This record gives sequence, C-alpha cells and structure tokens, in this order.
Amino acid sequence: MQDIVLTVFALTALLGLVSLLLPLADRLAVPYAVLLAAVGCAIGALSAFASSLVGVGIVGDMVHALDGFDLTAEALLYIFLPALLFETALNVDVQRLTEEIAPVLLLAVIGVLVSTLVVGVALWASFGVAFLACLMLGAVVATTDPVAVVAVFRDIGAPRRLTMLVEGESLFNDAAAIALYTLLLAMITGAHPANPLEALLDFVREFTGGLAAGYVAGRLVTWVLPALRDHRLGETTLTIALAYLVFVISERYLFVSGVVAVVTAGLVINHEGHRRLSPSSWKTLIRTWEQIGFWATSLIFLLAAMMVPHLLTGATLNQLALLAVLTVAAFAARAITLYGLMPMLSAVGLAQRVGLDLKLVILWGGMRGAVSLALALAATQNEALAPEIRQFIGVLATGFVLFTLFVCAPTLRPLMRWLHLDQLSPADIALRDRVMALYLSTIGDQISQVALEHHIGSDVATDATRWYAGRAEAAALIAEENAQLPPEARLRSAVRILVEREEELYRQHFDARAMSRRALARLLSRITLLRDAAKSGGIAEYRAAGARVVEFPRDFRFNLGLQRYLGIEWPLARDIADRFEAQLIARLVIQELRGFNADQLHRLFGGGPSKALDAELATRLDLVGQAADALQLQYPSYAHALQSQFLTLWAIRQEELQYQRLRSESIITPEVFNDVIKGLTERRRDAERRPLLDLGLERQALVARVTMFADLDPRKRAKISRLLRPLLAVPGQTVVRKGEHGDSMFFISSGAVEVRLAPQPVRLGSGDFFGELALIDNRPRTADVVALGFCRLLRLSSRDFNRLMRTDDGLRQQINAIAKERRDGATAD
Ligand code: CMP
Repeated sequence: MQDIVLTVFALTALLGLVSLLLPLADRLAVPYAVLLAAVGCAIGALSAFASSLVGVGIVGDMVHALDGFDLTAEALLYIFLPALLFETALNVDVQRLTEEIAPVLLLAVIGVLVSTLVVGVALWASFGVAFLACLMLGAVVATTDPVAVVAVFRDIGAPRRLTMLVEGESLFNDAAAIALYTLLLAMITGAHPANPLEALLDFVREFTGGLAAGYVAGRLVTWVLPALRDHRLGETTLTIALAYLVFVISERYLFVSGVVAVVTAGLVINHEGHRRLSPSSWKTLIRTWEQIGFWATSLIFLLAAMMVPHLLTGATLNQLALLAVLTVAAFAARAITLYGLMPMLSAVGLAQRVGLDLKLVILWGGMRGAVSLALALAATQNEALAPEIRQFIGVLATGFVLFTLFVCAPTLRPLMRWLHLDQLSPADIALRDRVMALYLSTIGDQISQVALEHHIGSDVATDATRWYAGRAEAAALIAEENAQLPPEARLRSAVRILVEREEELYRQHFDARAMSRRALARLLSRITLLRDAAKSGGIAEYRAAGARVVEFPRDFRFNLGLQRYLGIEWPLARDIADRFEAQLIARLVIQELRGFNADQLHRLFGGGPSKALDAELATRLDLVGQAADALQLQYPSYAHALQSQFLTLWAIRQEELQYQRLRSESIITPEVFNDVIKGLTERRRDAERRPLLDLGLERQALVARVTMFADLDPRKRAKISRLLRPLLAVPGQTVVRKGEHGDSMFFISSGAVEVRLAPQPVRLGSGDFFGELALIDNRPRTADVVALGFCRLLRLSSRDFNRLMRTDDGLRQQINAIAKERRDGATAD
C-alpha cells in the first residue's frame, strides 16, 4: 500500500484533471467517457514510462503516486460501483422502465447469457482456448456502459425510448454479468461444481435475491425518510448509506447480487422518494447524487483506463486475430438478442415493437466501459487463475472495450444522423413552430419597449427587432402549413401537455404546503392513469381514465375488509380522509386546468382541441364534485374542518411568500426574517396536523336509527345490538353479490342501497334490511346489492340470525313477512 498522502495527492490531481476534461470534451465534440478513457490510457502509459526516469519532488511524487496506484479490482468495484448504479437508478424514469421492463430484462439478462455463450463458443471453437475461460471472457465483455452512449443520445435529441432501453439494459446487465463472472470463476477454480443447471439456478437465486434485498432495504429507507423532517443533509446521507450498505450486506452476508440490490433500492427511492420528500429536499438529494455519480463515473473510468497499458502487456499478434473473432462474436450475440429474441417477445405481446433503426443503434451503441475493465482487472489479479488465462482475459477484454470506445462511440452520432434519429417527431416540430410563431413576435415587441426605457438608439433596437420579426414570420408560415396536421394529432399533443400540467399543479400545491404527502401520493398515482391514456390514444382513453380516477383503489378495498371483518377502523378512516383531501385539491386543480386550456392550449392548438378538452375537464369536474359531495353529505363537520385547514395553510404560505419578498428586497434584516419565519413554522406545524375522521360507526347510535330495533324495549335492544357489527360501505361498493353464499344479513342505519333486480332495480334506505333471503332459504344470494352513497350498515351473522329467529317471535314475523313479499314480487315478475 502506498503512502496515504501520495494517494490523496494522486486522487485529487485526477479530480482536478477531470474538471478540465468536461469542457474539453465539449470543445472537441467527443463523448466525455471516450475522452476519459483516452486520457486514462495516456496517464497509465506515461506514468509507467516516466516513473523510472523521475526522482522525488512534486512531479516525481505525482508520477510515482499515479504509477503506484495499486487499486484492486475489488476496491474499484466496491468503492465506485454502488454510487454509479444508485445514481443511475435514481434518475431513470421508473414509469417508463416498468413499461419497457420486458425488452430491458431481455437485453440485460438473456443478452448477457447469449453473449457469454456465443463469445465463449466462438473463441473456443476457433482457437481451442479452455472453454470456461472463453465463457468468462464472454461474461466480462457483456456489460454495457451507457455513459458514452446516453451522452450522445441527449446531445442529439434521440427518442426517449431509445435512451430508456439502453439505460435500463445497462442497469441490469452489470448485475447479470458480474454474477455470471463470479460463478464461472468459482467453476474454473473448482470452488463450484461445473454443472450448468446448478449454475443457472444459482444465477437465478442471486438475481432474485438481490431484487428482494434491494426492495426491502429501499422500502425501509423510504419509510424512515419522512421522520428526518426535511433535514436535507440527513436525508441525502441516509440514501448514501443505503446504497453502500445494501451492496455490502447483499454480497457479504446474504450471498445475493449486490449490484441488483443497489439498483433495486435506487429504483424504490426514485419511485417513492418523490412522494415522501418535499420537492426542495428531493431536488437537493438529486443534485448531491448527481455530483457523487459524476465523481464515481469519472474516477472508475479514469482509474480503470489507467490500467489498460498494464492489462495489455504481453499482447501478441495472435491475440489480434482473437480480438477480431471476439468482436464479431460479441456483435453477433447482440444481434441475435435484438433481431432474433426481441421480435419473439413482441409477438407474444410482452413488449412493444422496437423499430429496426433503433435496434441498429442499440447494436452499435453497446459500449463497454469501466465495469468490463474492472472485471478484466479482477481476472488478471486473481492468483487462482492460470497466468495464461489471466493474460488472455486481460488483453482481449481491454482490446474490445477500446474498440467500442474508440471506434463505435465516435461513429454513433453519424449513424444516428443517417437514420434520421436526431429529428423531432412531426407533432413536436409542429408544436415547436407554433410556439415560436406565437412568442417570438411578442419578444420583438418588447425589445423596442426596453430599448426606449434604457435610452438605447432606435437603430440598434430595429436591428434586434428585425431578427425576431423575421424568425416569427418564418415560423408562422411553417406553422400555417402544419395546421394541416390531422386534428387528432393536435388533440393528442394537447392532452399530453394537459396531463403534465396537472401533475405540475399538484406538485405546486404540495410545495405550497397546502396538502399532505399522502394526498399527493394518491393524486400522483392517478396521474399515471391519465398519462397512460394520453399516450395510448386520444380523448376516449382520457375520458375513461378520468372516470377511473374517482374509483376506489385496491388497497382501499383491503381497508374496507379490515373494518368489515376485524373491526379495525383507522386505516379506512385515514383512507377516506386522504380521499377527502385529494378531492378538495383535484377540484381546484381541474378548475385551474380549464383556465390553462382556455388560454395556453387554445393559443397553441386552436379552438377545436381546446373545446374538446374543456368538455372533458367539465365532465371530470362533475365526477370529482359528485364524489366530494357524497363525502361532504356524510361527514359535513369533517369537510368543514378540512376546508378550514386548507385555507389556513394557504394563508400561511402567502405570508411566507411576502416575508421572502421583503427579505429579497432587503426591507427586512435576516434576523427579523428568521424570527417571523420561526413563528410561522410553528403555526404551520400545528395547522398541518390533520384532524382525525370519525367514521361514525358507534354501534348504539346506529342501532337506535333502525326503526325495527328502536321500538324494542331497552333490554331486548341491548341484547340484539350486541350481535350487530357496524360497517361502512362506500359509493358503488357491492355489499352482497348475486350467486354467492350468504353468511350474514344487513340493516341500513344510514344511506341507501340499490338491489339490482331486473327489469327494475329496487332502492332501500335507512331502516330497511337486505341479505335475509339467502339465510332463510339457505340458497345463494338472489341479487347484487350496491351502495349508492356512503352507507352505515349493521351486519348480523347467519349464526346469530338463526338464533334470533328462534328466540324472538316479533322480529321473526317482521323479517319473514318482508322476505315473503320480496319472494312473491320475484315470482310475480
Ligand atoms: P339475498 O338473496 O340474501 O341477497 C340479495 C338480497 O336482495 C336479498 O337477499 C334481499 O334482501 C334483497 N332483495 C331481493 N329481492 C328484493 C325485492 N324484490 N325487493 C327488495 N329487496 C330484495
């Protein structure tokens, strides 16, 4: 181990260098990763060459430090890989990733297996090198590195889908390749029996184990995060600890894939953190991670590239031929996955089709990078491997990585241009021109105004204005032509913008602290429905999704069940309170959206689409309004409390904005500002405490409201009420389902239900009962009974019902009489 001072010296010097490489890459128009690799190789070669020539002193020490960097591959992977992967996972669009999960996993996992096999067999068959060593090399070169490629994609404005596929693939294939590499290593060194089936099972176990470990750890942290109460430094630190802890624990103690675990944990934080942290905290977290990710990527690349000269020592001409075979085989393997396996996936409906042009880019853009180099390094450093195998893997893997970086990466951009993948879609072009036509002329007008105010000569202003006027005119002309764009396409674009705007507005309300995190989460999960609809089609899908938005979600049903069967009330009460709050905000936001549509979208897309959208928004507003009214009717005092909380929070926010303005204009000093903000924060904390919702399921009160029981003498009523279980039914809920076995009957204490009978449904209200026929006649339920609004019911189990019918003559007569009427009614029909 070299002197720690020298290590710090060398590392910081490298960081200094890295900071300069960024602008240099821009200037040279080469991908940053490619420049890093080139510089790394050069440093490696130079420091090795110069270290025997220089003595001590600042330059000498630096050269020795760089040359003597005895970083092991394990250190490289343990120090940098978790940060690198976590950061990528944090920035991936999880929504899109889930949509594309089938092709991503195919590319990542199956792709790695195919690559390992094809490369292994090709090299073994053509040169007779040990088969397992060839397979191992196949695994080493199977990891793709998105850094170089994604940068090109972003630069060139490639379709988002392409970026998603390549990024997603690289996230998971590192894991697959590392797991496979470790397995093959164990087989070569004899630590693991060379049984393919067992190896495959091990591979699956590691992968799924990693998924589970990462998921659990990620959930745990998202659960703890809100408890840190907006302490941003703490929040970010916790996620850093998560990335490394989950990696080490998975690898060392659980014997599952640490890489998969980190990626999964990152995805969970990505998905959940957004909802659980305040927007500014989330921004801080992402920024910090961006910095960490940048350091990790740069250093892992640079350090791995510095080893290249060392890895290539002893390369022979014969190995050049091997490299040629390896290159052809690696591309062939990727082509098999892309052109052979992926269409099969689409054919069985597991994935959307990927166009031939995108496939070609994915094929050519499969850069190999730091992880391949680190694995090659690990192989060369492994004493358990025979020297010739170490050298074989070191040289060939490095050669191939260099080929992809120095040949494929620089040619990717021309390839994409050739395929026209650098162009915007027609809808985007139309939108761009319209935006330019609309806004450039406004800016032109403003220029003259500003020039006048600042005493700038009119000739100067005219020059500037002319340019804008010219551009605006040209754009207007093109926009005119594009008005020919089919109306559906314009409508589709408008719907998409509307959905994005809706999400943005929810976030703004949350940012203004006008609603709880739980309500935001609920609203955002609904946005997903709307977004999918907007993507998949036109207005009809949007309408259907809008209607689904007010439905009760699945977990809600679970909570209804908890209350119904176990009498546990609070999860349901909390759910309903969330719903209340979400509806309050949704109403507001849809109103705002109508304004946005009438103003902005009308200007951008014209009257037709805007009118159609307004009709949809009006329907949505109606639906949300009805749902909110149903709640308000049932829980008026709670609705009142919530509305007053909303107003208080809104007022506090306005107050805060005022103070911030006064502070930014230096009217109040920092001390005064802090003082008023302190008071405000306390008031806000009090106001944010949401009142508890009482579902109103107190048994005595409910029993008293059923006339049949109210008339009984108190002792008898008390006896019966002990047998009844209060229960809440929500609008649209099917309380009793036709054809099912009946285990209880219900009395309606408040609200109304509908018995779905043909040809005419029958409505029952407070004091009525239902579900008795199945118990008396001992046969399946005769009809669906659906709650029309929020209903409070009393449930009587069949056992207690039978007992009551035996012992209570009055009740039996009443129930039997009504049951008979109902049966007769059915026969008469
Ligand atoms: P059951 O058959 O257990 O489940 C469906 C219930 O609908 C049934 O019991 C009755 O309580 C109710 N029901 C059936 N027919 C009528 C009717 N004609 N009028 C009112 N309620 C009815």
